[in-house]
Amino acid sequence: MSLVKTKQRVADHGEVFTPEWMVEAMLDLVKDESERIDSRFLEPACGSGNFLVQVLKRKLVAVQCKFGKSDFEKQHYALLALMCIYGIELLADNIAECRANMLEILADYLNLDESDDFYRAASHVLSQGVIGVRLKTQSRPRRIWIVFYLTQTIKTKTG
Ligand SMILES: C[S@@+](CC[C@H](N)C(=O)[O-])C[C@H]1O[C@@H](n2cnc3c(N)ncnc32)[C@H](O)[C@@H]1O
Repeated sequence: MSLVKTKQRVADHGEVFTPEWMVEAMLDLVKDESERIDSRFLEPACGSGNFLVQVLKRKLVAVQCKFGKSDFEKQHYALLALMCIYGIELLADNIAECRANMLEILADYLNLDESDDFYRAASHVLSQGVIGVRLKTQSRPRRIWIVFYLTQTIKTKTG
């Protein structure tokens, strides 16, 4: 994948994407957190999701290790993993790509198609978690609000 879309976008928005090897190396600096299903990640200026996609992949490996034997748990913990990842980005096409890239990873993992409830739930989660915002500029600081999902797991007794 090219790390630059156009020279104009680099000049206007500083848009240069991070290569996968560097993303991996940086995530290794917080390896335990990147592999924990319910650790929260927020990336300001997330572009098309080079970091967020890799975080999701790592979390899904953890889901597979812990809950791979149960479809029910696999689905729920995969959705939980997605609910813990947040992105902010200025450009609409990047937001759309970021959401689509993450949705594809989740859908592939869970074998979902567009008519599945979980696909629609994941799509909604991404619409709330990966958002279009112009972050602070030097001339006009601003305050933004992001609603974090309540992602605490609840233990239940059965039988
Ligand atoms: C250097 S790129 C990094 C993209 C991604 N984090 C990566 O590492 O691949 C910076 C990103 O910030 C976005 N951006 C630039 N100015 C912004 C602003 N004021 N608010 C939010 N996002 C902005 C650009 O559109 C671009 O996608």
